[in-house]
Amino acid sequence: MIENLAKEEFEARKDYYRGCDMEVYRCRICGEVYIGTEKPGSCPFCGAHKNYLVVANEWNMIKATSLSDVSRKNLQKALELEIDNTNFYRGVSQKTENIYVEGMFKGLSKVEREHASTICKHLGITKPESDVGFDKAVESDEENISESNRREKRAVRFYLEARNEATESEIKEFFKALMEIESDHIRLTEQGI
Ligand SMILES: [Fe+2]
Ligand SMILES: [Fe+2]
Repeated sequence: MIENLAKEEFEARKDYYRGCDMEVYRCRICGEVYIGTEKPGSCPFCGAHKNYLVVANEWNMIKATSLSDVSRKNLQKALELEIDNTNFYRGVSQKTENIYVEGMFKGLSKVEREHASTICKHLGITKPESDVGFDKAVESDEENISESNRREKRAVRFYLEARNEATESEIKEFFKALMEIESDHIRLTEQGI
C-alpha cells in the first residue's frame, strides 16, 4: 500500500524529479543534515554559509582537538551571548502581534539556539537550561528590532576579537563562520518590518 503510494507520487511528479537526485548535505559548523536536491544558500539550522555545507560522505566537523585557555574563555562568553539572544528572540516572537516579526524572531531564535548547542559541543558540556534574556522583550516591535540589531553588532565585534585571539585554526574558522552569520542578521534587522 505504502509502496504503491510512493510509486504514484513519483509518477505524478516525474518532471519535478527528473535530473534531480536526492543528496545528503551536512554542515561542518553545526553538524546538522539537510536532505534535498540541491545545496541551500546557507545551513537551514545554524545559518553557516554555503561553503560549510558538504556532501555527507565528505563531512567532518570543524572542531579543535584541545582548547587553549583563551578560546575556552571566549567560547564560554559566546555561549552566554547566544543563550541570551535565543531567549530574547523567543520572547519577541511570542510578544509581537505582527506575523512577519513573529516569523523573523522565531527563525533568529532557532539559529542562535543552534549556535549555543554547537558551542557546548566545542566545550564538551551539556547545554545549560536558562531563560536569561526572555523578559527583555518589550511591547514595541521597532524597539525590539533595534535592540536585536545592537545585539548582532555586539556579537560580530566579539567574534572578531575571539577569532583574533584563537590559536587553534578550527576555532578561528568557527568564530569566522559565526561572524558571517551574525552579519547576515545585522542586515536582516536593518531591513525593518
Ligand atoms: Fe549548520
Ligand atoms: Fe549566534
